[in-house]
Amino acid sequence: MKINNLTLAYWNKIILEKIDLEIPKWEFVFLIWKSGSGKTSLISSLIWDFKPFLGNIVLDTGENLYWQKWDFILSYRRKIWVVFQDYKLLESKTVYENVAFAMEVCGYKDDYVIKKVPEFLRLVWLLVKKDKKITQLSGWEKQRLAIARALVHNPDVIIWDEPTWNLDPQTAMEIMKIFDELNKMGKTIIIATHDSNIVDKYKKRVVAFKDKKIFSDEKKGSYKY
Ligand SMILES: Nc1ncnc2c1ncn2[C@@H]1O[C@H](COP(=O)(O)OP(=O)(O)O)[C@@H](O)[C@H]1O
Ligand SMILES: [Mg+2]
Repeated sequence: MKINNLTLAYWNKIILEKIDLEIPKWEFVFLIWKSGSGKTSLISSLIWDFKPFLGNIVLDTGENLYWQKWDFILSYRRKIWVVFQDYKLLESKTVYENVAFAMEVCGYKDDYVIKKVPEFLRLVWLLVKKDKKITQLSGWEKQRLAIARALVHNPDVIIWDEPTWNLDPQTAMEIMKIFDELNKMGKTIIIATHDSNIVDKYKKRVVAFKDKKIFSDEKKGSYKY
């Protein structure tokens, strides 16, 4: 996708001004800098949760996102999946049921659900915990379950806002391995973070936001300037 001349504002307060940014398919990109720099706002605008004051988002198919109708947006939102901070898990159900339920809601047939749920759980190292209740999971396990549920929709793009905010540094590195794996499967990964450890370790593309602008954009970037 291409972010074209995007200006985001809350009432008369400009958050990001005339941003141009191209994120090709298969990219793994970190959006960084301090809290308040506009990362979450930008992510919200990518899924039409926050309408820009100016500019547009041009999809790989050539369509301008902000010219589309509502049913287009709904199907678009399955291809570009944002994992929210509260994970939206069903507390009274088991790990297995959480993923199965997400698939059933989407209308998948039973035999397909039975085949796919273990695959998704294996990808996030949760197959051994499949019969555990959500209340018995650690924060880190819940987070992985949230990824498994995202995979149900087979999104082309996975966006995560501050994935490591509640993880210790060791575990934060582990979650990056999962993102790396998903990226190798062909998914575009967009991660907003101010966690310099993971950014420095992984040497991916790093786009830094500062003073309402893109302050730097490096192929194998780091957090240190
Ligand atoms: N709903 C809102 N109303 C007004 N201002 C907001 C709102 N949400 C965020 N902001 C402001 O927008 C700026 C960018 O916030 P945000 O996108 O959350 O940045 P980041 O994710 O990088 O921390 C901040 O100055 C914040 O105070
Ligand atoms: Mg934020």
